[in-house]
Amino acid sequence: MTDLEKKLFDTDATFDVDYYEYMAPHRDTAQDTSFIFDALDITAIDTVLEIGTGNGRLLRGLRERGVTNLTGIDFSHDVLVQARAAQYADSITYLEGDFLHHPFDVQYDKIVSFFSSFGYMDDATNARILEKVATLLTPSGRFLLDIPGEGYANNVRAGTTRIEEDRDGVHTVWDATLREGGIYYDSMCTVTDSKKGIHKTYHFVMRLYQHAEMIELLERAGLTVVQTYGSYAFHPLTATSKRAIYIAQGTA
Ligand SMILES: C[S@@+](CC[C@H](N)C(=O)[O-])C[C@H]1O[C@@H](n2cnc3c(N)ncnc32)[C@H](O)[C@@H]1O
Repeated sequence: MTDLEKKLFDTDATFDVDYYEYMAPHRDTAQDTSFIFDALDITAIDTVLEIGTGNGRLLRGLRERGVTNLTGIDFSHDVLVQARAAQYADSITYLEGDFLHHPFDVQYDKIVSFFSSFGYMDDATNARILEKVATLLTPSGRFLLDIPGEGYANNVRAGTTRIEEDRDGVHTVWDATLREGGIYYDSMCTVTDSKKGIHKTYHFVMRLYQHAEMIELLERAGLTVVQTYGSYAFHPLTATSKRAIYIAQGTA
């Protein structure tokens, strides 16, 4: 990371060995993968890059569907240890490092940024990430960007700032706030796992982009939006959608 770039939170601390167990226990990987596969029209011969691949669950899902040229990059070491210990690790390329700084020497038919893996940096750096995506797409390539929709922020604005959950001896408390006029989502998640004797707090901050702002950002990066969705079930994107999903292609 150069001095000009700022991460909004300590990503290594948040995306740690326990991240998936405590912070993302409810992910429906079958549905997530199926959505990505269909929304991007992925074929078996496509080359696919996932930015922020985490433990590689989505790439494994695509591998199950016959896609063989799969690459994932992540800057958190702990989640990549899990990816490399999981099924298909021999046939999926996992890269450790920041997407922005990795020297890619090929282009990809499909690039994926899924489940809020974008918006962790200052605005200028977030914009440069999209510009780099545009340079890495093949001429007919497509990019899927999945970020929180406006309905997500509306929930916090409406006062849903604390969520508590008890699951298998794990007590989790999420406290979310919106900062700086609502453009930053800032969440503290405190986990108490009585069985394992673990008590820790995760901090997560993300830049929330409104629809018009995101369209402009993608266009400025050289990406044209060809389709939008508001859910992983292909619902249309509206002002109350919890997800905002953009399918974009390079500007010829
Ligand atoms: C919320 S997790 C989602 C992981 C995965 N996409 C999934 O759905 O399971 C976001 C991941 O993106 C990674 N990440 C975010 N920005 C990144 C960047 N610029 N370069 C590399 N990894 C990044 C984080 O380290 C984290 O593992």
